[in-house]
Amino acid sequence: MRILSGIQPTGTPHLGNYLGAIRNWVANQNDESLYCVVDLHSLTGEIDPATLNANTRQLFAALLACGIDQERCTLFIQSQVSWHSQLSWLLECVASYGELKRMTQFKEKAERQGAYRVGLLTYPVLMAADILLYQTTHVPVGDDQRQHLELAREIAERFNHRYGATFVVPQGMVPEFGARVMDLQEPTRKMSKSISSPQGSIDLFDTEADIAKKIKRAVTDTDNEVRYDWENKPGLSNLLDIFGAITSRTPTEIADGYQRYGDLKNDLAEALIATLAPIRNRYEELLQDPAELSRLAKVGAAKADPIAARTYQQAAAAMGLLS
Ligand code: TYM
Repeated sequence: MRILSGIQPTGTPHLGNYLGAIRNWVANQNDESLYCVVDLHSLTGEIDPATLNANTRQLFAALLACGIDQERCTLFIQSQVSWHSQLSWLLECVASYGELKRMTQFKEKAERQGAYRVGLLTYPVLMAADILLYQTTHVPVGDDQRQHLELAREIAERFNHRYGATFVVPQGMVPEFGARVMDLQEPTRKMSKSISSPQGSIDLFDTEADIAKKIKRAVTDTDNEVRYDWENKPGLSNLLDIFGAITSRTPTEIADGYQRYGDLKNDLAEALIATLAPIRNRYEELLQDPAELSRLAKVGAAKADPIAARTYQQAAAAMGLLS
């Protein structure tokens, strides 16, 4: 089982990233797993260089703080392994314009951004390159990445069919609960680095007071019956999902233990603080030593590079490029 996954350094990592992805990265880390901060992906939107630079370092530290251990797995920064953009070009010549244009995230973001960058359209091809370079069998992601993953599979199959067996066709690993954490203020929209309001999102670096306040103010409904019911009670069901994901219980089981929203919210805030406060403390310590962070990033890139190089060279040769 070879695992690869990535996260963009576009904003502050939030509870959705943690429950949908990072937590499962930590649980599945071993010498066959690779995780990356996908800085090249962040260039598809408006981001100033200083912010991208700082975010990349911070996200790298945050992943370590969450429990990713460079000695047990490989953690690297995408742009430090040059094969990602190189394979991406080869795969752009396999993917079609029509299939990229149909991607839901592209359509939503293109509409918001107006004059969007070409990279926003070709982004899922770079993501496919990230995955296929490592002959990945499993990709731990949240629900919103299913469509991109399906495209990566499609590209791998098409490539193998056209040029001969080269890539492993990967499959997703989407958690049962926590795969789609919703905005606390607008529970019909997912929690997002780019769109959520500060009150709608719990960031991994929020203080204890912030977490308590945001949970307390999370939108619910007025009938005051604690029940797991996404259709009629999206706000409350979101809280139950989050609670279930961090305590490894089912949302229904949790709902059965409460009569009042207030009690549920208090206990949830407490459980979240117990999980997130140690992460935030470790994160702050790690940020004190930028030289060590750079060293660790280089260690990760050095481990990833030869694996990626081998696959790239196979793919290039299969397409007829001279070696
Ligand atoms: P990104 O950076 O938007 O998100 C990182 C991971 O967090 C998950 N996630 C969520 N899970 C639950 N609830 C939410 N509200 C929520 N928001 C985000 C995402 O599903 C993701 O797993 N394209 C990817 C990054 C990427 C990648 C890859 C992933 C690039 N190359 C290769 C896997 C493999 C993205 O933008 O994720």
